[in-house]
Amino acid sequence: MLAMNYRGPYRVRTVHKQEPEIEHPNDAIVRVTRSCICGSDLHLYHGLVPDTRVGMTFGHEFTGVVEEVGSSVQNVKKGDHVLVPFNIFCGSCFFCKKELYSNCHNVNPEATAVGGIYGYSHTTGGYDGGQAEYVRVPMADVGPTIIPSDLDVDDAVMLTDACPTGYQAAEMGDIEEGDTVVVFGAGPVGLFAAKSAWLMGAGRVIVVDHLEYRLEFAQKFAQCEVINFREVNDMAIHIKRMTDWLGADVCIDAVGCEAAGSAMQRVTGVTVPLQAGAATALFWAINSVRKGGTVSIVGVYGPTFNAVPIGNVVNKGLTIRANQASVKRHLPRLIEHIKAGRLKPSEIITHRFALEDIPDAYHMFSSKLDNIIKPVLVPRTASLH
Ligand SMILES: NC(=O)c1ccc[n+]([C@@H]2O[C@H](COP(=O)([O-])OP(=O)(O)OC[C@H]3O[C@@H](n4cnc5c(N)ncnc54)[C@H](O)[C@@H]3O)[C@@H](O)[C@H]2O)c1
Ligand SMILES: [Zn+2]
Ligand SMILES: [Zn+2]
Repeated sequence: MLAMNYRGPYRVRTVHKQEPEIEHPNDAIVRVTRSCICGSDLHLYHGLVPDTRVGMTFGHEFTGVVEEVGSSVQNVKKGDHVLVPFNIFCGSCFFCKKELYSNCHNVNPEATAVGGIYGYSHTTGGYDGGQAEYVRVPMADVGPTIIPSDLDVDDAVMLTDACPTGYQAAEMGDIEEGDTVVVFGAGPVGLFAAKSAWLMGAGRVIVVDHLEYRLEFAQKFAQCEVINFREVNDMAIHIKRMTDWLGADVCIDAVGCEAAGSAMQRVTGVTVPLQAGAATALFWAINSVRKGGTVSIVGVYGPTFNAVPIGNVVNKGLTIRANQASVKRHLPRLIEHIKAGRLKPSEIITHRFALEDIPDAYHMFSSKLDNIIKPVLVPRTASLH
């Protein structure tokens, strides 16, 4: 089969690879119909995630048709078209019982923090991902969700990560009626966070980025105000000026470890990684939120420390909420929003590529060329029959 293949930082290829096989009675083999490249894949592509092994296939956002199931699988069968949350989780451990599926204790030998994720280095379990024609889906009774017949496959693939992650980012903000919510990052996750903030009762939503085309898109997609941080001297003062000098009620970090905007953070977080990534957006979030406000973090950071103003967190009495999203928990509500016409996740898809074009797709998404927002890969074997 054709599959994405990691060769080292900034080097990815499409190769012929052996098709995956059932390795455990609760596995399924899924023929991929759509898969995406995510902002998280860029951290892998840039060589910033520890233990990313040469030969690995990335891809944690995919839909597909079940081709084969292991002997114990009961909830899906051959022929089902499923969307597969990016989390691999057991459904029955201490953490899964609390619906913290992203923190499952049974699927990743390194599971002191995160659980299992498809195609996301050996720090999340070493599973191959879905940027391929076929993928092995472990715990097939708990992860995959059958795509309702009236749900578009392009909407369904957005439900495997970007949309529920943005939704959880807003949820962790504990937004109250009329709150001012500032979202850092106008990528797919930030866009869905902005949209979700309205659904949760925000009175004002402001999105921050420096890519003008993304800010324009955010204005249309999420009917929000925007700030280009290149035009701002001091982010905290700027946001305070916009909020009667109080600060925002909720700030969301949808940027993570590769933020632009501070030379000091870039040099110490990315060039010579002395800290776990450039925490500029988190820094701004902490300083721009009002006293007693909430900072919600879904941007990805590494396991070590970051240079952020923790003293301000204490002295302002902030609540910090953070996690990898637990996708499955949000699906019923999000499918309801889609059916009611309040949300059309596929609107953010700007580019489609064949698997053969993977090097170009990564390059384009990484360099933010051609006004790209969300790229989707469609394998030649993707037909639904
Ligand atoms: N927690 C989770 O479950 C989860 C899931 C998916 C993605 N993520 C993470 O969320 C982040 C965003 O993902 P994405 O797919 O939207 O990525 P993306 O790369 O498409 O978007 C990131 C955006 O942030 C902007 N940006 C850079 N520096 C900034 C700053 N200082 N302030 C404001 N904006 C800034 C960039 O210009 C870009 O538009 C990534 O770190 C990704 O790894 C987390
Ligand atoms: Zn993702
Ligand atoms: Zn579990």
